[in-house]
Amino acid sequence: MNTIRDLDLSGKRVLVRVDFNVPMDGDKNITDDIRIRMALPTLQYILDQNAKLILCSHMGRPKGQRVMDYSLAPVAAHLADLLGREVSVAPDCIGKESEALVAAMQPGDILMLENLRFHKEETENGADFAKQIARMADVYVNDAFAVSHRAHASVVGVPVNVAEKAAGFLLQTEMDFFHKAMDNPVRPLVALVGGAKVSSKLGALENMLDKVDSMIIGGAMANTFLMSQGIDVGVSKVEDDLLDTAREFVKKAKGKGVKLYFPVDFVVADRFAADAVTKNVTCYDIPDKWMALDIGPASTIYFQEALADARTIVWNGPMGAFEMDAFSRGTFAMCHSVASSHALSITGGGDSNAAVKKSGESANISYMSTGGGAFLTLMEGKTLPGVEVLRMP
Ligand code: 3PG
Repeated sequence: MNTIRDLDLSGKRVLVRVDFNVPMDGDKNITDDIRIRMALPTLQYILDQNAKLILCSHMGRPKGQRVMDYSLAPVAAHLADLLGREVSVAPDCIGKESEALVAAMQPGDILMLENLRFHKEETENGADFAKQIARMADVYVNDAFAVSHRAHASVVGVPVNVAEKAAGFLLQTEMDFFHKAMDNPVRPLVALVGGAKVSSKLGALENMLDKVDSMIIGGAMANTFLMSQGIDVGVSKVEDDLLDTAREFVKKAKGKGVKLYFPVDFVVADRFAADAVTKNVTCYDIPDKWMALDIGPASTIYFQEALADARTIVWNGPMGAFEMDAFSRGTFAMCHSVASSHALSITGGGDSNAAVKKSGESANISYMSTGGGAFLTLMEGKTLPGVEVLRMP
């Protein structure tokens, strides 16, 4: 796979697919600009090569409609601040006006195309749409790891229609860290998996079973596993249709010699609310009509022991409903433990990354992936269409 260092970019129209799908508040202030900052080395490098820099991205899910709430204009303004250079915005990502703006560009100019998802052909990978974008570029660069699991036009359709293509530094870094952690890890390799549903992570859990030495399972998904082992979890969230699957998984792990860690105690609540009545109980004492919303102190110590031995940690998903203070201790304790371990630590997914950030430990994690779905796709052992297309001759 080419990286941008392998190409001569000077004077060329370089189209970079970035993932600037960043969260914004009601006043269109960007509340987390990490995805923009992580792409800066690529953008700066391309500008240093005296190229014409054209950026394209999606924002939200406007479903093929031109919904100006999803405009990339605020992102372009923020990028201009970060780069200390002017960033123009095209009114659309295709069409005569955008093409004219590109034609007028000088080396060193920056143009951001408007939200790709204003056209349904983006998510449908429309061939003509992809060609229209492609003809505005001499070189295609993918630096959008977080959307590289989507076979969308700008991810897989455009690159096959541009003369030269390459990975940007962010995409390269993401793939390198993941490869280091999962394909060639320093052992023990420990997976820390949480979040609401077994169903959304089943593929990842199954794949990781063949790779890890131990796996810690927390979050609401742990309830299904505990219930499959005959433990009464009150009115906690459980996926009844996955009880057999969970039971099978536990058996498989035993067969493979992978140690599984489940919570041994919980913070339970009488309802799902920040001001609910709460108490700490063992996993065998969850009262009827109460629900588990965080791992308890004994589980925290138990999990910390597993993490202390680890030399590589891959983490996806929180340990509880950490957005509510009363149920955040378990997740934050994991943030501090992962951060203080001597392991190579990689986190991915919006919730785990938000928790790490809130815990103040971002700088102490080896790598925080910018991907959610893309990170999970790699955890499932699948390839990313956006990366595969760059490997094609
Ligand atoms: C993300 O935020 O995970 C990426 O930008 C992909 O967005 P999507 O799930 O709307 O495709």
